Amino acid sequence: MDREADRYTLNNRELWDELAPVHFRSYDIKGFLSGHSSLDAIQMKDLGSIKGKKVLHLQCHIGLDTLSLARLGADVTGIDISPRSIEFAEKLKKRSGLDARFICSDIYRLEGKLKAGYDIVYTGQGVLCWLKDIKEWGRIISRYLEKGGMFYIMEGHPFSCIFESGGKGIRVEYDYFKPGPLRFDDWDADYSDPSYRVRSPSYEWQWTAGDIVNSLIGADLRIERFEEYPFLFFKRFKGMKKGKDGFWHFKSGTSGYVPLMFTLKARKI
Ligand SMILES: C[S@@+](CC[C@H](N)C(=O)[O-])C[C@H]1O[C@@H](n2cnc3c(N)ncnc32)[C@H](O)[C@@H]1O
Repeated sequence: MDREADRYTLNNRELWDELAPVHFRSYDIKGFLSGHSSLDAIQMKDLGSIKGKKVLHLQCHIGLDTLSLARLGADVTGIDISPRSIEFAEKLKKRSGLDARFICSDIYRLEGKLKAGYDIVYTGQGVLCWLKDIKEWGRIISRYLEKGGMFYIMEGHPFSCIFESGGKGIRVEYDYFKPGPLRFDDWDADYSDPSYRVRSPSYEWQWTAGDIVNSLIGADLRIERFEEYPFLFFKRFKGMKKGKDGFWHFKSGTSGYVPLMFTLKARKI
């Protein structure tokens, strides 16, 4: 099973290598270079002041959020499995004149590449479905955190993963309790650049809310906050509209009342 999971992870790395240049064109790089942050108001408030803190950013992709954290005064290390993503992260670092360290690695193969002692481990916005082992995920976070250090994630709500676009809203399509992975090769368009048709298939795992919190609890992290929201950080379903707050909402109807996103804050004990 492990070897099979590794094969899926390698396939997913190809997908993220394909998407890195697409996102370097379609993410708001111009805005970022002119001083805007890619972090939204919820994350900013939840994180509080991170000036001078040692931050580890897991699954950092092209480094936009990593460098936004750096701009707030943190000493940040970003990790990503995709070499192309890290290439673009380095490019963005150079262009922005900000400082951060990027390491190209599978989060499951970090041992020997990274020392512990972080004040904050930060991750989120499309990360959990790429992870083959949710129990080990909590242990990795715990390994790199100082005692009293904070873990923070903003992520798509696991409950929302059972839906597909349908009619004016959403319809139930997937099992909540089946971790998968599921293969997707019928992407119509990339989430950030709708004009781009994704070529590589993806293999995605579906972790329940219980899997996520229990992974952290089992790794000596005390959950301090778990919030649910009826909106999301990307356009996941047809019919969603971007609000003034920068998040994607359903205009009306009951589908606006299902949880689409969560944030979680935990502390290493
Ligand atoms: C949706 S992106 C991250 C989202 C990020 N917030 C953003 O939008 O820029 C998911 C990232 O996870 C990375 N990834 C997937 N599996 C990984 C693994 N096992 N170890 C490290 N990175 C991984 C991918 O390469 C990709 O860059």
